[in-house]
This record gives sequence, structure tokens and C-alpha cells, in this order.
Amino acid sequence: MTSRETLARRLTKARDRTLRLVEFDDAELHRQYDPLMSPLLWDLAHIGWQEELWLLRGNDPHRPGMLTPDVERLYDAFENSRASRVDLPLLPPSDARMFCATVRNKALDTLDALTDDDVEAEFNFGLVISHENQHDETMMQALNLRTGPALLDHGTALPPGRPDVAGTSVLVPGGPFVLGVDAVTEPHSLDNERPAHIVDVPAFRIGRVPVTNGEWRQFVDDGGYRQPRWWSQRGWTHCEQAGLTAPQFWNADGTRTRFGHVEDIPADEPVQHVTYFEAEAFAAWAGARLPTEVEWEKACAWDPDVGARRRFPWGASEPTSAFTNLDGDALRPAPVGAYPTGASAYGAEQMLGDVWEWTSSPLRPWPGFTPMLYELYSQPFFDGDYKVLRGGSWAVAADIIRPSFRNWDHPIRRQIFSGLRLAWDV
Ligand SMILES: [Fe+2]
Repeated sequence: MTSRETLARRLTKARDRTLRLVEFDDAELHRQYDPLMSPLLWDLAHIGWQEELWLLRGNDPHRPGMLTPDVERLYDAFENSRASRVDLPLLPPSDARMFCATVRNKALDTLDALTDDDVEAEFNFGLVISHENQHDETMMQALNLRTGPALLDHGTALPPGRPDVAGTSVLVPGGPFVLGVDAVTEPHSLDNERPAHIVDVPAFRIGRVPVTNGEWRQFVDDGGYRQPRWWSQRGWTHCEQAGLTAPQFWNADGTRTRFGHVEDIPADEPVQHVTYFEAEAFAAWAGARLPTEVEWEKACAWDPDVGARRRFPWGASEPTSAFTNLDGDALRPAPVGAYPTGASAYGAEQMLGDVWEWTSSPLRPWPGFTPMLYELYSQPFFDGDYKVLRGGSWAVAADIIRPSFRNWDHPIRRQIFSGLRLAWDV
């Protein structure tokens, strides 16, 4: 069981983060930075609305809530596309803040009244914590797309890297391992991470660290974006149609723009803001391939000496800044080699944090999949055009990431904090 104190602390931490991301004037909160993103104001009230629905209304939309049906419909993500949300008559910022605070106070009262063995309620609180933090990352993507003078600073300091680890790999010998998790070991795991089951994986090699900006620069300089031979057919069509020449936010003069700051591109930092198609082309150029998500999870979580999963790549300790770059304060990935103590049993580093890593796997349910309270979280996406990303970015909250966590997006998306790690057959 996760204690009520821990859940309350995680709720408060997520809310502090959300409120820091909306500490702007009303006009700013109404802006749409990109058609791919919602105005920050939409995310704010949406966070409160889902929390009310899941924790205070038993997930029954017919049970009356604090908002009128017309207003709460504005915050239904499935009824309103991201591009359309800027045109909705959204609650003014002061009302949205008040609504979120009122919901939160009642939710904390509910938490106080829980019995220690209410597993379902505990899961629902974890879901709310995950949902709010996931929206916080989306809001950071929006802020990164914003044009104009920077609203955020450069981010907090990060440990130095070990540049000699770039381009190196580790061996993962063949054999079975336990893929996925169960409620007993990971009570806050989401539906698509379950159930745990045994999978046999042939031997492979995987990058010790993610691909760096320096390596990506060589791909650019070698004409990688001009040669269809490195690209899949779909990837090349997209590359030509979208006019791709470098990762998003790289400028023609060799700098990049990050949260409004123009700066040199650090060669030893994991590359960010590449599509799946670019990642696939880079891998082909490098004489490698992308890992499957199953390979990725084995390299991250399996301990072959013990014959069991580790909770985190480095062991059982909760994620801290000694092991990994999470929680969003750095506003960028850490240089490769920055976290030797965070290595997995096989020696792979920076599996959690820094960048989401594209895998070659489409999003599919594990055998025995059962939808959770938030029924539309995974299921509508299983048959779509999505590729799985693993590991979490620097913008992901430490409270919600696990080796089994699965993210997904269209293969053409790159406003997300996406990078890659290479793999090789043995
Ligand atoms: Fe949501």
C-alpha cells in the first residue's frame, strides 16, 4: 500500500508544479502556441475536472458536479480536439484556479477518510497524480513551442557527463524475462502495463546511453536528411513533405531554441525533438536499428543474477537526482554518462529520465489486458498509427515513472521530448 501521507504529498507536488506553469497573465493563458497544443488554461481546468470525476463523482458523468454540463463538456479531451480548444468559451483563469482548488480540498478530505485496505481508491488517487503530471509535461511542450521572449529561465544545474560513453553499447543475453507488472508489485501501474507475463527475448545489444546531438550532427552533415536510402518509404515521404533537415528547434546557424532561449547545441546531450521516422533513419545510417519496447524493458528492468525485475533500473531506491534527471526543473536532458549509479543490471544508463526513447513497437495490449477506471486511456489507441516511447523525459515526474510505463505517439510527432537509443542484433 502507498500511505495516505505519500499520496497527499504527491498530489501537492503535482499541483505546485501545475500552478507554476500557469503563473502568467490571463492573455498568456488563453494563447495557443501551436495547433498541436491546448491553451494552458484548458489544461488547468481539465486537470480539475478529471480529478472531480474520478475521485468525487465515482467516474459517473451523470452525477452532478460543480460545473454545469455545458461547461464541463469543454474539458472533455475526446469531444474537443487540441486545435479547437482555443476557440472554446473557457472558464476565466480565476474561476479555473478556484474550481481546481475546491476539487482538491474535497479530494484531500476523501483521502483522509480512506481505509488502509481500499486498493481501488488508492489506485484512483494514483491515476489522478499521474494524469496531472502528464498534463504538466504537455504544458511544458506547449511552452517550448511558444515564440517571443522567454518566460522560463534556463533550468537548474545538471551533473557532468562522461562523453566517452556516447556510441557504446551493452549486451543483453538471450532468455526469458518478466515483461509488464501487476497490481501487487506496482499498485499505480496503468492498464497497458499489465499483466506481468514471461517473454523470451533473443540476445541483442543496446546503446549504453541515448544518441547525442553530436552524433546527430554527423548524420545531418553526412546528408542523412537528403538520402532516401536511410529512410522507410513512409518516413521519406514525410521527410520531403514536411521539409525536415534537422531536429525541431535546431536553427540554421548551428544554434537551437529552447523555451525561447537561443543557445549552442551541447554535443554530449541526448538529441531531442525527432520524429519516429527520423529516429528510424538515423538508426539505419548508423548500422543499427531501434529496440523493440520488449527489448527496451528487459534492458531496463531485468536482473539476470536474481532472475527478477528491479523496481527501477538501479534497484529498489526511489528515483532521486543521484540516479536520474526527472521532474522538469532542468528544462533539458543531462549529458550522457551523467548518472553511472543509475545503470541497469546490464549496464544501460539513463533509461529513465532525460528523453523519451522511440521504440520500433506499435502500441498493442499485453495478453490479458483489462481497461482501468479511465477506460479511454489506452484502448482507443491500440489499433492506431502509434509507436511506443519508453523511459520518460526530463519533464516527467519521478512520482509516476516506472520501467513498465508506456507512452505512444504518431510517428510524425516531435514537439514531444523524444530521442532514441540504438539496438543491434547479435
Ligand atoms: Fe487528460
